[in-house]
Amino acid sequence: QEIASAGSPGMKLILLGPPGAGKGTQAQELERRRNLVQLSTGDMLRAVIASGSALGQEVKAIIDTGALVPDDIMVRMIADRIEQPDCGDGFILDGFPRTTAQAEALDVMLDARNTALDHVIAMVVDADVLTRRIGGRFSCAKCGAGYHDEFQKPRQDGVCDHCGGTEFTRRSDDKPETVRARLEAYEAQTAPLLPYYRDKNLLRSVNAMAGIDEVTAEIEKILMGA
Ligand code: AP5
Repeated sequence: QEIASAGSPGMKLILLGPPGAGKGTQAQELERRRNLVQLSTGDMLRAVIASGSALGQEVKAIIDTGALVPDDIMVRMIADRIEQPDCGDGFILDGFPRTTAQAEALDVMLDARNTALDHVIAMVVDADVLTRRIGGRFSCAKCGAGYHDEFQKPRQDGVCDHCGGTEFTRRSDDKPETVRARLEAYEAQTAPLLPYYRDKNLLRSVNAMAGIDEVTAEIEKILMGA
């Protein structure tokens, strides 16, 4: 109860954008630069799948079609996660909320903790680059750092820049037909969050077509109050 009423001083951000916009890439970079925790619901769901539980099997069947996991599961997952002490210094939501119901539930959660979002950053990107970005993506099997065959190679081929790991994985939902379904789900269910947050005066946009470092610099400008 004490935690719930104390509020938390850290910055709370949402990175909003279609699959492949660079949400995870930027969230990882901000986590390295600032004392903020990346809350990636995609990573959380992949951890549930890896655990082999019944819920994991249910979730895998949904993710592999490119559809969204039901709101009640997602809201519970985030509600539990933001109660953890490491979120007290602020967090970056990457992949949540993804529906209006999730956004409304988040508002209620933050209100109950006497706190609020600082910024919602829309990552604006042309649809035609997304498949190319997703198609070349891979990540370190040990620490999860993200890479790309063309745009973000490890400094030394086959070795993770961050932990020295030498095993890499590719996501099972990054196949072209699943990506198409994910983009459709974004347009139908997540894009309506842009006007939702614009109406609350929280929405800022960055040009996510730019290079990774330039996008980080644009986000940093917003966080520094420019
Ligand atoms: P999730 O894991 O969240 O996937 P997503 O939203 O589809 O986003 P991605 O991870 O594909 O893209 P990203 O924007 O993070 O791009 P990245 O930085 O990797 O969700 C997966 C599934 O889980 C969903 O389909 C759904 O089923 C379920 N789910 C998750 N959350 C849910 C929720 N809240 N409700 C319901 N269901 C939920 O970048 C992509 C690649 O491009 C990388 O290789 C990177 O190196 C490269 N790149 C990044 N930025 C640039 C740049 N500026 N220039 C060049 N290359 C770049």
